[in-house]
Amino acid sequence: MSVTPTDVEHEVRSIDIIVSKGNEAGDITYANPIFFKLAGYTPAELLDQPHSKIRHPDMPKIIFKFLWDNLKAGKNVTTFVKNISKDGGFYWVLAQIRVANNPDGSFRNYVSTRKPMTANARKRIEPLYADLLEAEGTNGDMDASLKILESFLEANGASLATFNDIMLEINS
Ligand SMILES: Cc1cc2nc3c(=O)[nH]c(=O)nc-3n(C[C@H](O)[C@H](O)[C@H](O)COP(=O)(O)O)c2cc1C
Repeated sequence: MSVTPTDVEHEVRSIDIIVSKGNEAGDITYANPIFFKLAGYTPAELLDQPHSKIRHPDMPKIIFKFLWDNLKAGKNVTTFVKNISKDGGFYWVLAQIRVANNPDGSFRNYVSTRKPMTANARKRIEPLYADLLEAEGTNGDMDASLKILESFLEANGASLATFNDIMLEINS
C-alpha cells in the first residue's frame, strides 16, 4: 500500500548525516538512526526492503535512471532527492551515492550519504523536477524528460558528465 503524500515537511538539520547502504537490487541492508527517524519507520519495517519504499511521487523517473546507469557503470552520483515518510510528510536531501568494493575488487554495496538541501538549491531544483515529472506524463516518457534535464545542465554550464559537480555547486 502506498503512502498518501502531505504538505508536511520534516526538517533535515545541518548536523544530520543520513546514511543507508543497499545491495545490488537497491534493498536497504543498513541505515543509521536518523535515516529511520526521518523516514518514520522502525528498522524492522525498512531493512531488506527496497529504497523505493521512501520514493516520493514528485520524483522524476529520469533521476533514478541516471542514478542506476551510473552506479551500474561503477560511477558515484550526487543528486537531490525528495523522500516520503511513513506519515506522508517529505524531506529533501542532497544524496551522494557511491559504489563500495571489497579489497579484491568485487562489489560490496552501495552507500548513500545525505545532507540537507539549501534553500537556494530548493528554488532551482523543485521547478526542474516538476518540469521533468510533467514531461514524463502518465507513461513515464524519459526521452522528453532527458531533453529538459540536458537543457537545464547546459544552461548551468554543465552536462550529464559533470552532473555531480553542478549539483554540489547548486547546493553551496
Ligand atoms: C544506496 C542507495 C540509496 C538510495 N536511496 C534512495 C532514497 O533515499 N530515495 C529514493 O527514492 N530512492 C533511493 N534509491 C533508489 C531506489 O533504489 C529506486 O531506484 C528509486 O526509489 C526509484 O524506484 P523505482 O526504480 O522502483 O521507480 C537508492 C538506491 C541506492 C542504491
